[in-house]
Amino acid sequence: MTTARAHANIALVKYWGKRDEKLFLPTNGSLSMTLDGLYTTTTVELAERDELVLNGETQGPEALGKVTRLLDLVRAMAGSKAGARVTSINQVPTAAGLASSASAFAALAGAASKAYGLALDDVALSRLARQGSGSASRSIFGGFVEWRRGERADGLDSHGVPVVPQSHWDVRMLVTVLETAPKSVSSRVGMRRTMDTSPYYPGWIASAAADLVEAREAVLARDLAGLGAVMESSALKMHASMLAARPPFTYLQPASLAVIQAVWAWRAEGLAGFVTMDAGPNVKVLCAATDAEELAARLGALPGVEEVLVCGPGPGLSYEVS
Ligand code: DP6
Repeated sequence: MTTARAHANIALVKYWGKRDEKLFLPTNGSLSMTLDGLYTTTTVELAERDELVLNGETQGPEALGKVTRLLDLVRAMAGSKAGARVTSINQVPTAAGLASSASAFAALAGAASKAYGLALDDVALSRLARQGSGSASRSIFGGFVEWRRGERADGLDSHGVPVVPQSHWDVRMLVTVLETAPKSVSSRVGMRRTMDTSPYYPGWIASAAADLVEAREAVLARDLAGLGAVMESSALKMHASMLAARPPFTYLQPASLAVIQAVWAWRAEGLAGFVTMDAGPNVKVLCAATDAEELAARLGALPGVEEVLVCGPGPGLSYEVS
């Protein structure tokens, strides 16, 4: 029986689109910050057949199927036919669209590989986690993390690499939780539709490699304004490409746009926050640790904002001994 913990991550340069859907190989490299405070703890014990219990509730075939797919990869490596009982707790203060597949598949990759007796290094764990959910490849590592696109058809060179550790930079990611319904288009379906139909998608791809270089340099230099500019551009180009898909779709809700505009107005007054958004309506705001309290208070007072979570850079995958 093995228990592993992995933290959620927020992409500053986004992943949106796969060049190989089966192996989860991305069309472009991405860069993220791992978050403290938001994590998944997963225990794997060998059993007669696969079973998934998430936050105390036994899951049906859809969620279990995704877990079984990852377990099959582990079983193939370990030469085992044993089933596994997977018990997972999502340590996320609210259910509002933040239960992250990234932390879930990173924790599962860690706990399952150990339970089946494999001794995988972090790069191998990142490749494995990637095949559960692309963004999970980044949650194996703490601090700021790059997921390399890679060139190989077998995916061996497509995995996370640490850029700088958790201690490098005292910034905060403020996660605004909005009062809205759960997302209607999954990221998996949304990214495929954008790739297949959006005339803006080639523009997104054309600029992604340069965004990655710019973001990496800004992180290394602790340049908040530089990182903020490229992260807003990456996120908004991604969301613009979805608006131009057929049929069109968007994760932007009226309250999301109100948060973005408020952050921009405060920035013009000298309070520096920078926005990003993923496949859901919640807006995340990057800022200096010293501005976090003021910004969180202002965000919390905006209409439609239910809660604001204040997260610093978080650690990579860890194990609990039982
Ligand atoms: C918008 O990793 O959830 O959050 O690989 O299909 O499981 P799958 O998708 P997922 O997509 C994340 C998309 C994003 C941007 C990002 O995290 O880079």
